[in-house]
Parts: sequence; structure tokens; C-alpha cells
Amino acid sequence: MTTSIDTLPRHERYDTLTRRAHWIAAVIIIYTMIAGYSLHLMVGTVYFAFFSVLNMSLGTLVIPLMIVRYIWAFFRPSVPYPTDLSRPKKNMAHLAHEMFYLIIFVMLISGVLMLTHGFPLFWLIDIPQPIINPAVNAFFFKIHRVACIAVSVTLVLHIAAVVKHQLIDKRDILSRML
Ligand code: HEM
Ligand code: HEM
Repeated sequence: MTTSIDTLPRHERYDTLTRRAHWIAAVIIIYTMIAGYSLHLMVGTVYFAFFSVLNMSLGTLVIPLMIVRYIWAFFRPSVPYPTDLSRPKKNMAHLAHEMFYLIIFVMLISGVLMLTHGFPLFWLIDIPQPIINPAVNAFFFKIHRVACIAVSVTLVLHIAAVVKHQLIDKRDILSRML
């Protein structure tokens, strides 16, 4: 018998806050990642400043979103993994998700600390440069670059894991997050 998303028992599906925050963060991070690398093609053009401010603003927006999401994960109604999933696999999934949160936070914090100038958040609020030291800023730029690669690789693995569960193991885990 197939179970439609709307009739999925509440304990088999993440709560509304978790689901909304997951997809909002996913869309923003994927866009910011693509735009961040695309900025290389815009150096010296009139588009660079606009897309750079937009990227820094969107990245900054993700900071409170990820903090709320991470803290909420400790308090939300629990959504047990399917019973046929072995304990080591459940633990691996849990560890992988925690690692994902960790590298996202490294990417966000390094983005802020690498700033060599302030910027207008969505052209509304002036955000000052937090650390005025070129060597420290250059160090965090390196961290930001490595963290961006780590998040990209983890994202590909994350999507591959969902596709594997869904199509090969025939275990509908996507509905848990829809
Ligand atoms: C940058 C984009 C993404 C990020 C940062 C991300 C991050 C995460 C994290 C941290 C979790 C664990 C949730 C928790 O327990 O708090 C999760 C779960 C999940 N994600 Fe993503 N995700 C992204 C994109 C996607 C995409 C594109 C898909 C669809 C293919 C997807 C499908 C899922 C599913 C189905 C779960 C629930 C897994 C389960 O517990 O059964 N995610 N995601
Ligand atoms: C959603 C989170 C973020 C993603 C996905 C992201 C992604 C990227 C990528 C892919 C690059 C290019 C890296 C390279 O050249 O190898 C980049 C550069 C940069 N990032 Fe981030 N970033 C994020 C958050 C932030 C935040 C929060 C800030 C600071 C407020 C920031 C500031 C910068 C700056 C200043 C650059 C150099 C290019 C420029 O001047 O715009 N990033 N980012």
C-alpha cells in the first residue's frame, strides 16, 4: 500500500519548522554557492558589486536560520528512522548530518571573518568589517574556500544518499522532509 505525503503519520515526518527551514536553507545555500563561484566571471564588470552584496546578504541570512534549525533539532518531536535500517546505518546518518551542520557553520563564520570591508545587508543595514587585519582576513578566506568545497561535496553525497534510499533501497525517506 502506498502512503501519500498528507496521510504520513506525524511521527514519520519532520515538523513544519524543520521542513520549511531545511528547504529555505537548501535553496539559499545552493544559489549562493553557484553565484559565489560565478563571481569569478564577473570580476571587473558592473555586476560584481551587486551579486557580491546579494551573496553576502543571503549568506548572513542563513546564519540565524541555521542556528534556529540546529537548536530546534534538540527539542522537536523525534522522527525515528525506519525500523529496518540497521543501528550502525542510523548512527552514520546522524553523524553525517551533524558533520553537515558543522561545515556549514565553518563556511558561514569564515565568510564573515574574511571580510576586507563592510557591506550593506540587502542595501538596508550597514554591516561593519568585524576583523580589521588583512592577514587574518586572508586566512579566513582560505578557510571559506575550503569550507565551500567541503559543503559542495557533502551536498552531492547528501543528494546521492537520498536518491539511493529512494530508488535502490525503495525506502521513502524523502517524504520525511516534504
Ligand atoms: C544545501 C542544501 C542542503 C542542506 C544544507 C541539507 C541539510 C540537511 C541536514 C543537516 C539534514 C538533517 C536534518 C536534521 O536532522 O536536522 C537533512 C535532512 C534531509 N535532507 Fe537535506 N540538505 C540539503 C539539500 C537537500 C536536497 C536537495 C534534498 C533532496 C534530494 C534533501 C533531502 C533531505 C532529506 C530527505 C532529509 C531527511 C533525512 C532523514 O532523516 O530521513 N536535502 N538535510
Ligand atoms: C550560504 C552561505 C555561503 C555560501 C554558499 C558561500 C559561497 C561562496 C563561494 C562559493 C565563494 C567563492 C569562493 C572561491 O572563490 O573559491 C564565496 C566568496 C565569498 N564569500 Fe561566501 N558564501 C556563503 C556565506 C558568506 C557570508 C556569510 C559572507 C560574509 C558576510 C561571505 C563572504 C564572501 C566574500 C566576501 C567572498 C569573496 C567574493 C566577494 O567579494 O563577494 N560568504 N562565497
